Amino acid sequence: MHVDILTVFPAAFDGIKTHSIWGRAQDKGLLSLNIHDIRMHSTDKHRRTDDTPFGGGAGLVMTAQPVVDAVGQLTMDNAQLTGARRIYLSPRGKPLTHALTKELAQEQALTLLCGHYEGIDQRALDICGFEEISIGDYVLTGGEIPAMVLLDAVMRHIPGVLGCAESVEEESFSGGLLEYPHFTRPAIYNKKPVPQVLQNGNHADITRWRTIESLKITAQNRPDLIKHYISSNITIRKERPGDYRQVLPLTYHAFTDLWYHIDRRRIDEHYLIYLLKKSKSVINKLCFVAELNGVVVGHILYTKSAFRRPGGTVAPTCTFGPLSVLPELQRYGIGRRLALHSMEAARDQGWKAVIITGIPEYYPKLGFKRAADFGLTMMDGTTADYFMAYELESGYLAGGGKHCEQAPEFTQAEEDDAGFEAFHQQFISEVLDNG
Ligand SMILES: C[S@@+](CC[C@H](N)C(=O)[O-])C[C@H]1O[C@@H](n2cnc3c(N)ncnc32)[C@H](O)[C@@H]1O
Repeated sequence: MHVDILTVFPAAFDGIKTHSIWGRAQDKGLLSLNIHDIRMHSTDKHRRTDDTPFGGGAGLVMTAQPVVDAVGQLTMDNAQLTGARRIYLSPRGKPLTHALTKELAQEQALTLLCGHYEGIDQRALDICGFEEISIGDYVLTGGEIPAMVLLDAVMRHIPGVLGCAESVEEESFSGGLLEYPHFTRPAIYNKKPVPQVLQNGNHADITRWRTIESLKITAQNRPDLIKHYISSNITIRKERPGDYRQVLPLTYHAFTDLWYHIDRRRIDEHYLIYLLKKSKSVINKLCFVAELNGVVVGHILYTKSAFRRPGGTVAPTCTFGPLSVLPELQRYGIGRRLALHSMEAARDQGWKAVIITGIPEYYPKLGFKRAADFGLTMMDGTTADYFMAYELESGYLAGGGKHCEQAPEFTQAEEDDAGFEAFHQQFISEVLDNG
Protein backbone atom coordinates (compact mmCIF):
# COMPACT_ATOMS: atom_id res chain seq x y z
CA MET A 1 0.00 0.00 0.00
CA HIS A 2 1.23 3.46 -0.91
CA VAL A 3 0.46 6.06 1.77
CA ASP A 4 1.06 9.82 1.64
CA ILE A 5 0.45 11.93 4.72
CA LEU A 6 0.02 15.69 4.34
CA THR A 7 0.74 17.64 7.51
CA VAL A 8 2.08 20.94 8.81
CA PHE A 9 3.93 18.99 11.55
CA PRO A 10 5.88 16.25 9.73
CA ALA A 11 8.10 15.75 12.80
CA ALA A 12 5.06 14.30 14.62
CA PHE A 13 5.64 11.07 12.65
CA ASP A 14 9.36 10.76 13.46
CA GLY A 15 8.88 8.32 16.32
CA ILE A 16 6.35 6.02 14.77
CA LYS A 17 7.54 6.04 11.16
CA THR A 18 10.12 3.33 11.68
CA HIS A 19 8.59 1.80 14.79
CA SER A 20 7.75 -1.95 15.14
CA ILE A 21 4.88 -2.91 12.81
CA TRP A 22 5.18 0.28 10.76
CA GLY A 23 8.88 -0.34 10.25
CA ARG A 24 8.41 -4.05 9.52
CA ALA A 25 5.67 -3.36 6.96
CA GLN A 26 8.02 -1.02 5.12
CA ASP A 27 10.95 -3.44 5.36
CA LYS A 28 8.78 -6.17 3.88
CA GLY A 29 7.74 -3.87 1.03
CA LEU A 30 4.09 -3.96 2.10
CA LEU A 31 3.93 -0.26 2.93
CA SER A 32 5.45 2.74 1.20
CA LEU A 33 5.04 5.67 3.59
CA ASN A 34 5.74 9.28 2.64
CA ILE A 35 5.30 12.26 4.93
CA HIS A 36 4.86 15.65 3.20
CA ASP A 37 5.14 19.08 4.76
CA ILE A 38 2.20 21.19 3.55
CA ARG A 39 4.13 24.32 4.51
CA MET A 40 6.64 23.65 1.74
CA HIS A 41 3.83 24.24 -0.80
CA SER A 42 2.72 27.61 0.55
CA THR A 43 3.20 30.51 -1.87
CA ASP A 44 3.01 32.98 1.04
CA LYS A 45 6.35 34.70 1.54
CA HIS A 46 6.38 33.63 5.22
CA ARG A 47 5.16 30.13 4.26
CA ARG A 48 1.98 30.70 6.21
CA THR A 49 -0.66 27.99 5.89
CA ASP A 50 -3.46 29.57 7.94
CA ASP A 51 -5.59 32.69 8.09
CA THR A 52 -8.56 34.17 9.94
CA PRO A 53 -12.02 32.79 9.14
CA PHE A 54 -14.49 34.60 6.92
CA GLY A 55 -17.64 35.36 8.92
CA GLY A 56 -15.67 35.87 12.10
CA GLY A 57 -15.25 33.53 15.02
CA ALA A 58 -12.36 32.21 17.05
CA GLY A 59 -9.25 30.53 15.71
CA LEU A 60 -7.55 30.16 12.37
CA VAL A 61 -8.35 28.16 9.25
CA MET A 62 -5.83 26.32 7.09
CA THR A 63 -5.72 27.96 3.67
CA ALA A 64 -6.71 26.11 0.51
CA GLN A 65 -3.70 26.87 -1.72
CA PRO A 66 -0.93 24.89 0.07
CA VAL A 67 -3.19 21.85 0.46
CA VAL A 68 -4.37 21.84 -3.17
CA ASP A 69 -0.82 22.34 -4.41
CA ALA A 70 0.55 19.59 -2.15
CA VAL A 71 -1.99 17.15 -3.56
CA GLY A 72 -1.25 18.38 -7.09
CA GLN A 73 2.45 17.73 -6.57
CA LEU A 74 1.74 14.16 -5.49
CA THR A 75 -0.10 13.35 -8.69
CA MET A 76 2.47 15.14 -10.75
CA ASP A 77 5.22 12.98 -9.22
CA ASN A 78 3.17 9.80 -9.53
CA ALA A 79 0.20 9.75 -11.94
CA GLN A 80 -1.18 6.62 -10.27
CA LEU A 81 -1.90 8.63 -7.13
CA THR A 82 -4.77 10.36 -8.97
CA GLY A 83 -6.73 7.24 -8.01
CA ALA A 84 -5.62 7.29 -4.34
CA ARG A 85 -8.40 7.41 -1.78
CA ARG A 86 -8.20 10.85 -0.20
CA ILE A 87 -9.09 11.12 3.46
CA TYR A 88 -9.27 14.21 5.62
CA LEU A 89 -9.12 13.25 9.30
CA SER A 90 -11.90 15.26 10.90
CA PRO A 91 -14.22 15.02 13.93
CA ARG A 92 -17.19 15.67 11.64
CA GLY A 93 -16.32 12.69 9.41
CA LYS A 94 -17.95 9.29 9.32
CA PRO A 95 -16.77 7.07 12.16
CA LEU A 96 -13.71 4.87 11.71
CA THR A 97 -14.99 1.36 12.38
CA HIS A 98 -13.54 -2.12 12.13
CA ALA A 99 -15.43 -2.60 8.86
CA LEU A 100 -14.06 0.65 7.44
CA THR A 101 -10.47 -0.23 8.35
CA LYS A 102 -10.90 -3.54 6.50
CA GLU A 103 -12.33 -1.71 3.51
CA LEU A 104 -9.46 0.80 3.44
CA ALA A 105 -6.92 -2.02 3.61
CA GLN A 106 -8.08 -3.06 0.12
CA GLU A 107 -6.93 0.25 -1.38
CA GLN A 108 -3.73 0.54 -3.43
CA ALA A 109 -3.04 4.08 -2.17
CA LEU A 110 -4.26 6.44 0.56
CA THR A 111 -3.65 10.16 0.91
CA LEU A 112 -4.22 11.29 4.50
CA LEU A 113 -4.70 14.98 5.24
CA CYS A 114 -4.12 16.24 8.79
CA GLY A 115 -5.90 19.43 9.81
CA HIS A 116 -5.12 21.97 12.53
CA TYR A 117 -6.71 24.99 14.21
CA GLU A 118 -10.40 25.22 13.21
CA GLY A 119 -9.90 22.99 10.18
CA ILE A 120 -9.25 23.46 6.46
CA ASP A 121 -10.78 25.82 3.90
CA GLN A 122 -13.70 23.82 2.48
CA ARG A 123 -12.69 24.58 -1.10
CA ALA A 124 -9.47 22.56 -0.75
CA LEU A 125 -11.48 19.56 0.44
CA ASP A 126 -13.99 19.90 -2.40
CA ILE A 127 -11.43 20.53 -5.16
CA CYS A 128 -9.32 17.50 -4.19
CA GLY A 129 -12.30 15.27 -3.35
CA PHE A 130 -11.41 14.43 0.26
CA GLU A 131 -13.80 12.24 2.24
CA GLU A 132 -13.89 12.88 5.98
CA ILE A 133 -13.24 10.22 8.61
CA SER A 134 -13.38 10.69 12.39
CA ILE A 135 -11.60 8.50 14.94
CA GLY A 136 -14.18 9.21 17.65
CA ASP A 137 -16.65 11.63 19.14
CA TYR A 138 -14.12 14.01 20.69
CA VAL A 139 -11.90 16.75 19.36
CA LEU A 140 -8.10 16.57 19.19
CA THR A 141 -5.83 19.50 18.43
CA GLY A 142 -4.52 18.12 15.13
CA GLY A 143 -5.01 15.38 12.57
CA GLU A 144 -1.61 13.70 13.05
CA ILE A 145 -2.67 11.35 15.85
CA PRO A 146 -5.93 10.45 14.01
CA ALA A 147 -3.88 9.69 10.88
CA MET A 148 -1.63 7.39 12.92
CA VAL A 149 -4.66 5.69 14.45
CA LEU A 150 -6.26 5.14 11.06
CA LEU A 151 -3.11 3.87 9.39
CA ASP A 152 -2.20 1.56 12.27
CA ALA A 153 -5.68 0.00 12.24
CA VAL A 154 -5.71 -0.34 8.44
CA MET A 155 -2.23 -1.84 8.21
CA ARG A 156 -3.11 -4.75 10.48
CA HIS A 157 -5.47 -6.02 7.78
CA ILE A 158 -2.84 -6.05 5.04
CA PRO A 159 -1.80 -9.69 4.59
CA GLY A 160 1.71 -10.31 5.89
CA VAL A 161 1.93 -7.21 8.10
CA LEU A 162 1.13 -9.10 11.31
CA GLY A 163 2.97 -12.26 12.20
CA CYS A 164 -0.10 -14.42 12.71
CA ALA A 165 -3.24 -14.02 10.59
CA GLU A 166 -5.42 -15.31 13.43
CA SER A 167 -4.63 -12.35 15.62
CA VAL A 168 -6.77 -10.14 13.37
CA GLU A 169 -9.56 -12.71 12.91
CA GLU A 170 -10.17 -13.29 16.61
CA GLU A 171 -9.97 -9.75 17.88
CA SER A 172 -12.66 -7.41 19.17
CA PHE A 173 -15.28 -6.47 16.55
CA SER A 174 -14.21 -9.14 14.05
CA GLY A 175 -17.23 -11.32 14.88
CA GLY A 176 -19.47 -8.53 16.13
CA LEU A 177 -18.42 -8.93 19.79
CA LEU A 178 -15.68 -7.52 22.02
CA GLU A 179 -12.86 -9.85 22.97
CA TYR A 180 -12.76 -12.18 26.00
CA PRO A 181 -10.14 -11.66 28.77
CA HIS A 182 -6.60 -13.01 28.37
CA PHE A 183 -4.31 -14.65 30.93
CA THR A 184 -0.70 -15.78 30.83
CA ARG A 185 1.76 -17.28 33.33
CA PRO A 186 1.94 -17.51 36.30
CA ALA A 187 -1.24 -19.53 36.96
CA ILE A 188 -1.67 -17.75 40.29
CA TYR A 189 -0.71 -14.10 40.68
CA ASN A 190 -1.39 -12.05 43.79
CA LYS A 191 -3.59 -14.93 45.05
CA LYS A 192 -5.71 -14.65 41.89
CA PRO A 193 -5.89 -17.89 39.89
CA VAL A 194 -6.40 -18.12 36.14
CA PRO A 195 -9.92 -19.56 35.47
CA GLN A 196 -9.74 -23.33 35.80
CA VAL A 197 -11.42 -23.94 32.44
CA LEU A 198 -8.45 -22.35 30.63
CA GLN A 199 -6.06 -24.78 32.29
CA ASN A 200 -7.96 -28.01 31.60
CA GLY A 201 -7.09 -28.27 27.91
CA ASN A 202 -10.68 -28.96 26.81
CA HIS A 203 -10.96 -26.86 23.67
CA ALA A 204 -14.75 -27.00 23.39
CA ASP A 205 -15.07 -25.77 27.00
CA ILE A 206 -12.48 -23.04 26.39
CA THR A 207 -14.29 -21.82 23.26
CA ARG A 208 -17.62 -21.78 25.13
CA TRP A 209 -16.10 -19.90 28.08
CA ARG A 210 -14.55 -17.33 25.77
CA THR A 211 -17.82 -16.82 23.92
CA ILE A 212 -19.71 -16.28 27.17
CA GLU A 213 -17.09 -13.81 28.40
CA SER A 214 -17.25 -11.95 25.07
CA LEU A 215 -21.04 -11.79 25.32
CA LYS A 216 -20.84 -10.48 28.89
CA ILE A 217 -18.23 -7.81 28.23
CA THR A 218 -19.99 -6.64 25.06
CA ALA A 219 -23.32 -6.41 26.94
CA GLN A 220 -21.62 -4.47 29.74
CA ASN A 221 -19.70 -1.98 27.59
CA ARG A 222 -21.57 -1.83 24.29
CA PRO A 223 -25.35 -2.31 24.53
CA ASP A 224 -25.59 -1.15 20.90
CA LEU A 225 -23.35 -3.99 19.68
CA ILE A 226 -24.94 -6.70 21.81
CA LYS A 227 -28.44 -5.73 20.73
CA HIS A 228 -27.48 -6.03 17.08
CA TYR A 229 -25.54 -9.25 17.69
CA ILE A 230 -28.45 -10.91 19.47
CA SER A 231 -31.04 -9.92 16.91
CA SER A 232 -28.94 -11.20 14.01
CA ASN A 233 -27.53 -14.36 15.60
CA ILE A 234 -30.00 -15.83 18.08
CA THR A 235 -31.50 -19.24 17.35
CA ILE A 236 -34.24 -21.00 19.28
CA ARG A 237 -34.11 -24.78 19.04
CA LYS A 238 -35.42 -27.86 20.88
CA GLU A 239 -33.43 -28.76 23.96
CA ARG A 240 -31.17 -31.81 23.59
CA PRO A 241 -30.00 -34.08 26.44
CA GLY A 242 -26.41 -32.77 26.05
CA ASP A 243 -27.56 -29.22 26.83
CA TYR A 244 -28.02 -30.06 30.53
CA ARG A 245 -24.35 -29.23 31.28
CA GLN A 246 -24.95 -25.68 30.12
CA VAL A 247 -28.53 -25.30 31.29
CA LEU A 248 -27.68 -26.06 34.93
CA PRO A 249 -25.18 -23.19 35.51
CA LEU A 250 -27.24 -20.92 33.25
CA THR A 251 -30.29 -21.42 35.49
CA TYR A 252 -28.24 -20.77 38.61
CA HIS A 253 -26.78 -17.52 37.27
CA ALA A 254 -30.07 -16.36 35.76
CA PHE A 255 -31.93 -16.55 39.06
CA THR A 256 -29.10 -15.48 41.34
CA ASP A 257 -29.17 -11.99 39.90
CA LEU A 258 -32.91 -11.42 39.84
CA TRP A 259 -34.09 -8.72 42.19
CA TYR A 260 -37.19 -10.51 43.39
CA HIS A 261 -35.07 -13.05 45.25
CA ILE A 262 -34.56 -10.51 47.98
CA ASP A 263 -37.59 -11.98 49.75
CA ARG A 264 -36.73 -15.59 49.07
CA ARG A 265 -35.31 -18.11 51.49
CA ARG A 266 -32.88 -19.45 48.89
CA ILE A 267 -32.33 -19.75 45.15
CA ASP A 268 -33.18 -23.28 44.13
CA GLU A 269 -34.10 -23.16 40.44
CA HIS A 270 -30.91 -25.00 39.50
CA TYR A 271 -31.87 -27.74 41.99
CA LEU A 272 -35.30 -27.86 40.38
CA ILE A 273 -33.70 -28.35 36.94
CA TYR A 274 -31.65 -31.19 38.42
CA LEU A 275 -34.74 -32.81 39.97
CA LEU A 276 -36.80 -32.42 36.79
CA LYS A 277 -34.11 -34.05 34.66
CA LYS A 278 -35.72 -37.46 35.09
CA SER A 279 -39.26 -36.36 35.90
CA LYS A 280 -42.24 -37.83 34.05
CA SER A 281 -43.94 -34.44 34.32
CA VAL A 282 -41.56 -32.72 31.89
CA ILE A 283 -42.97 -32.13 28.38
CA ASN A 284 -39.75 -32.67 26.41
CA LYS A 285 -41.25 -31.49 23.14
CA LEU A 286 -41.80 -28.06 24.68
CA CYS A 287 -38.34 -27.52 26.15
CA PHE A 288 -36.29 -25.06 24.10
CA VAL A 289 -32.93 -23.34 24.33
CA ALA A 290 -31.76 -20.02 22.91
CA GLU A 291 -28.33 -20.31 21.39
CA LEU A 292 -25.73 -17.71 20.42
CA ASN A 293 -22.62 -18.82 18.58
CA GLY A 294 -23.09 -22.40 19.84
CA VAL A 295 -23.56 -21.33 23.46
CA VAL A 296 -26.83 -21.83 25.36
CA VAL A 297 -27.85 -18.41 26.72
CA GLY A 298 -31.53 -19.10 27.42
CA HIS A 299 -33.75 -22.03 28.37
CA ILE A 300 -37.42 -22.74 28.92
CA LEU A 301 -38.84 -25.89 30.45
CA TYR A 302 -42.47 -27.11 30.47
CA THR A 303 -44.22 -29.50 32.81
CA LYS A 304 -47.71 -30.96 32.87
CA SER A 305 -50.28 -29.39 35.18
CA ALA A 306 -54.07 -29.31 35.52
CA PHE A 307 -57.02 -27.60 37.22
CA ARG A 308 -60.30 -28.98 38.50
CA ARG A 309 -63.39 -27.33 37.11
CA PRO A 310 -66.27 -26.51 39.53
CA GLY A 311 -68.14 -29.57 38.14
CA GLY A 312 -65.24 -31.86 39.13
CA THR A 313 -63.63 -32.60 35.76
CA VAL A 314 -59.87 -32.26 35.55
CA ALA A 315 -58.65 -30.05 32.68
CA PRO A 316 -55.00 -30.46 31.57
CA THR A 317 -52.77 -27.43 31.25
CA CYS A 318 -49.06 -26.89 30.77
CA THR A 319 -46.73 -24.81 32.90
CA PHE A 320 -43.44 -23.23 31.97
CA GLY A 321 -40.58 -22.38 34.27
CA PRO A 322 -37.84 -22.00 35.09
CA LEU A 323 -37.33 -19.61 32.19
CA SER A 324 -33.66 -18.62 32.31
CA VAL A 325 -31.55 -16.12 30.42
CA LEU A 326 -27.88 -15.32 31.08
CA PRO A 327 -28.07 -12.30 33.46
CA GLU A 328 -25.99 -9.99 31.27
CA LEU A 329 -28.25 -10.72 28.29
CA GLN A 330 -31.53 -10.15 30.08
CA ARG A 331 -33.75 -7.34 28.78
CA TYR A 332 -32.79 -8.00 25.16
CA GLY A 333 -35.92 -10.01 24.34
CA ILE A 334 -34.43 -13.52 24.61
CA GLY A 335 -36.87 -14.65 27.33
CA ARG A 336 -39.75 -13.21 25.37
CA ARG A 337 -38.71 -15.10 22.23
CA LEU A 338 -38.37 -18.36 24.16
CA ALA A 339 -41.79 -17.91 25.79
CA LEU A 340 -43.65 -16.92 22.61
CA HIS A 341 -41.94 -19.59 20.49
CA SER A 342 -42.72 -22.37 22.98
CA MET A 343 -46.31 -21.18 23.55
CA GLU A 344 -46.89 -21.37 19.81
CA ALA A 345 -45.43 -24.90 19.83
CA ALA A 346 -47.70 -25.78 22.78
CA ARG A 347 -50.75 -24.61 20.82
CA ASP A 348 -49.61 -26.65 17.78
CA GLN A 349 -49.24 -29.70 20.02
CA GLY A 350 -52.81 -29.38 21.27
CA TRP A 351 -52.33 -27.73 24.67
CA LYS A 352 -55.13 -25.32 25.52
CA ALA A 353 -53.79 -23.15 28.35
CA VAL A 354 -50.57 -22.23 30.16
CA ILE A 355 -50.53 -21.55 33.89
CA ILE A 356 -47.44 -20.16 35.57
CA THR A 357 -46.07 -18.50 38.66
CA GLY A 358 -43.80 -15.62 37.70
CA ILE A 359 -43.01 -11.94 37.93
CA PRO A 360 -46.38 -10.09 37.80
CA GLU A 361 -44.72 -7.05 36.19
CA TYR A 362 -43.27 -9.06 33.29
CA TYR A 363 -45.65 -11.74 32.05
CA PRO A 364 -48.68 -9.53 31.29
CA LYS A 365 -46.46 -8.07 28.53
CA LEU A 366 -46.65 -11.51 26.89
CA GLY A 367 -50.45 -11.61 27.22
CA PHE A 368 -50.74 -13.38 30.60
CA LYS A 369 -53.56 -12.39 32.98
CA ARG A 370 -53.92 -12.93 36.69
CA ALA A 371 -55.31 -16.47 37.03
CA ALA A 372 -57.88 -14.99 39.42
CA ASP A 373 -59.35 -13.08 36.46
CA PHE A 374 -60.34 -16.47 35.01
CA GLY A 375 -61.68 -17.61 38.40
CA LEU A 376 -58.67 -19.88 38.97
CA THR A 377 -57.25 -20.37 42.45
CA MET A 378 -53.98 -21.92 43.56
CA MET A 379 -53.77 -25.39 45.14
CA ASP A 380 -54.41 -24.00 48.63
CA GLY A 381 -57.51 -22.18 47.37
CA THR A 382 -55.97 -18.68 47.51
CA THR A 383 -55.07 -16.32 44.70
CA ALA A 384 -51.95 -14.23 44.11
CA ASP A 385 -50.76 -11.79 41.47
CA TYR A 386 -47.83 -14.04 40.58
CA PHE A 387 -50.21 -16.91 39.69
CA MET A 388 -51.01 -16.20 36.03
CA ALA A 389 -52.67 -17.86 33.06
CA TYR A 390 -52.83 -17.66 29.28
CA GLU A 391 -55.46 -19.29 27.08
CA LEU A 392 -54.09 -21.02 23.97
CA GLU A 393 -57.70 -21.87 23.08
CA SER A 394 -60.14 -19.07 23.71
CA GLY A 395 -62.65 -19.87 26.50
CA TYR A 396 -60.77 -22.94 27.83
CA LEU A 397 -60.38 -21.43 31.29
CA ALA A 398 -63.92 -19.97 31.42
CA GLY A 399 -65.65 -20.90 34.64
CA GLY A 400 -62.35 -21.17 36.48
CA GLY A 401 -61.55 -23.81 39.07
CA LYS A 402 -58.72 -24.88 41.31
CA HIS A 403 -55.14 -25.69 40.32
CA CYS A 404 -54.92 -29.38 41.26
CA GLU A 405 -51.82 -30.85 39.65
CA GLN A 406 -48.21 -29.78 39.22
CA ALA A 407 -44.87 -31.60 39.01
CA PRO A 408 -44.02 -32.77 42.57
CA GLU A 409 -40.45 -31.59 42.06
CA PHE A 410 -41.58 -27.96 42.52
CA THR A 411 -42.49 -28.66 46.16
CA GLN A 412 -39.46 -30.91 46.65
CA ALA A 413 -37.08 -28.18 45.42
CA GLU A 414 -38.58 -25.76 47.91
CA GLU A 415 -38.88 -28.06 50.92
CA ASP A 416 -36.09 -30.64 50.76
CA ASP A 417 -33.36 -28.67 52.54
CA ALA A 418 -30.97 -31.59 53.02
CA GLY A 419 -31.29 -32.65 49.37
CA PHE A 420 -30.75 -29.08 48.24
CA GLU A 421 -27.63 -28.60 50.39
CA ALA A 422 -26.00 -31.82 49.18
CA PHE A 423 -26.73 -30.98 45.55
CA HIS A 424 -25.70 -27.34 45.85
CA GLN A 425 -22.30 -28.08 47.45
CA GLN A 426 -21.49 -30.51 44.68
CA PHE A 427 -22.76 -28.05 42.07
CA ILE A 428 -20.48 -25.31 43.40
CA SER A 429 -17.37 -27.47 43.43
CA GLU A 430 -17.92 -29.44 40.22
CA VAL A 431 -19.77 -27.03 37.95
CA LEU A 432 -19.10 -23.46 39.01
CA ASP A 433 -15.47 -23.82 40.05
CA ASN A 434 -14.66 -25.50 36.76
CA GLY A 435 -16.05 -22.68 34.66
C1 LIG B 1 -9.30 21.32 16.71
S1 LIG B 1 -9.62 20.22 15.41
C2 LIG B 1 -10.83 21.08 14.48
C3 LIG B 1 -12.17 20.81 14.95
C4 LIG B 1 -13.23 21.47 14.09
N1 LIG B 1 -13.25 22.88 14.29
C5 LIG B 1 -14.59 20.90 14.43
O1 LIG B 1 -15.21 21.39 15.36
O2 LIG B 1 -14.98 19.91 13.78
C6 LIG B 1 -8.20 20.32 14.45
C7 LIG B 1 -7.92 19.11 13.57
O3 LIG B 1 -7.73 17.96 14.37
C8 LIG B 1 -8.14 16.81 13.67
N2 LIG B 1 -9.12 16.11 14.52
C9 LIG B 1 -9.57 16.51 15.72
N3 LIG B 1 -10.40 15.64 16.26
C10 LIG B 1 -10.50 14.61 15.39
C11 LIG B 1 -11.23 13.40 15.37
N4 LIG B 1 -12.03 13.06 16.37
N5 LIG B 1 -11.07 12.57 14.33
C12 LIG B 1 -10.26 12.89 13.30
N6 LIG B 1 -9.56 14.05 13.24
C13 LIG B 1 -9.67 14.91 14.27
C14 LIG B 1 -8.72 17.30 12.34
O4 LIG B 1 -7.77 17.08 11.34
C15 LIG B 1 -8.99 18.74 12.59
O5 LIG B 1 -8.91 19.52 11.42
